[in-house]
Amino acid sequence: MRVLILLSALTACAGASVGVASRRGFAQSVARPASRVTSRVTMAARTALIAGNWKMNTVLSEAVALAKVVADASQGAAADVTICVPFPYLDAVSRVLAGSKVGLGAQDVCEYDKGAYTGGVSTAMLQSVGCSYVLTGHSERRAIFGESDELINKKTRKVLAAGLKCILCVGELKEQREDGSTDQVVATQLVGGLKGVSEAELANIVIAYEPVWAIGTGLTATPEQAQETHAAVRKWFAANYSPAAAEKMVIQYGGSVTPDTVDELMSCPDIDGALVGGASLIGDKFARIINFVV
Ligand code: PGA
Repeated sequence: MRVLILLSALTACAGASVGVASRRGFAQSVARPASRVTSRVTMAARTALIAGNWKMNTVLSEAVALAKVVADASQGAAADVTICVPFPYLDAVSRVLAGSKVGLGAQDVCEYDKGAYTGGVSTAMLQSVGCSYVLTGHSERRAIFGESDELINKKTRKVLAAGLKCILCVGELKEQREDGSTDQVVATQLVGGLKGVSEAELANIVIAYEPVWAIGTGLTATPEQAQETHAAVRKWFAANYSPAAAEKMVIQYGGSVTPDTVDELMSCPDIDGALVGGASLIGDKFARIINFVV
């Protein structure tokens, strides 16, 4: 029964390729059916993580109401769930989430411990209000706030040193996908972001692969495009850490995930969750995403 379910999930991911047979991702996925099955079965050892990224949205009353919806919707979910909320609401949302399975996340952190860093928010502050996750390397932090891989690495290591979990975001621009450099761009971000991070510390790292052209645009990567890059990310971990570490890595997809796209994406063998922006602000949509069906 279990095998049948997994196989039907595989069909959904592969089936999405119909009509785009000329794409590299499809050709590769057809050529490797055995490894896809193996990978999917192994994925059962990884627990999916669905994370909401509220970005700079909501006021306090909306944040509290939305958090309640997420807590309720997560009750029977098979996936782990977390919401990354604006700093001013962390404490209030933490109270709403108490006793639920939903983790609390921040969208950024300061790379310093404490002191004269006006506007900075430290890992200790985040922990004192119940945070367990922090996003680093989000494309908006990279593009709008000019964060370099070096700074992202400092933040990532600070998060890990504090014992928090880090969702490190990577992803290519539209031009980079078009010129075929996606895997190289993502590898460079991984090398930079994870410099000095040990294999043991990877237990507290989640990677969010988010093609920049798909963020907030309504353009979701096709399941085969996403699967292909997720497989490349996993391969990077196998080569740079170990095959065992690679198998354990939770790799989320992000970029315009909706209730309409989540099931197919989650049926891909190397996609272990979703980082959701826009749709995480709409309670019933996010509730459906949390309870994806494969
Ligand atoms: P989106 O955002 O779902 O609105 O595309 C995803 C993200 O930026 O994490």
